[in-house]
Amino acid sequence: MEKHQFYKFLVWTSVAFSSLHCGLGIKCASNGPTIQQTQVGYGNPPKYMVEVYNRCPMCPVINIHLKCGSFPQALVSPRLLKVVAFGDCVVNGGLPLAPLQKIFFNYSHSKYLMPPATWYFQCE
Ligand SMILES: *[C@@H]1O[C@H](CO)[C@@H](O)[C@H](O)[C@H]1NC(C)=O
Repeated sequence: MEKHQFYKFLVWTSVAFSSLHCGLGIKCASNGPTIQQTQVGYGNPPKYMVEVYNRCPMCPVINIHLKCGSFPQALVSPRLLKVVAFGDCVVNGGLPLAPLQKIFFNYSHSKYLMPPATWYFQCE
């Protein structure tokens, strides 16, 4: 096989295998990550603790984006929640949350609703 053909073959097989692996993610399709907010401070502004939970028991989840409205970056470390654009925030720098892992962060402001927008399951 020529070198570039071999390379194409490698790309093809890795694509085939990764889609096969992600196919397992289908088991988690109805099990997307959840966001739960709990008020933990009652001053002005109030303080909320946000829990991001990968409910999938089999697959890490990556690239969790939230619909975060006008959430200001200054309220939280971008390592935990990075404001990418208006209405688009990414959790944990897009890095994986292990199966059943939760991460938490707090912010002090009136409440922002932050429903999950998109994510990917990465199955091994
Ligand atoms: C959020 O705030 C609560 C209450 O002040 C505190 O117990 C908790 O440790 C904080 N969590 C984080 C992730 O900073």
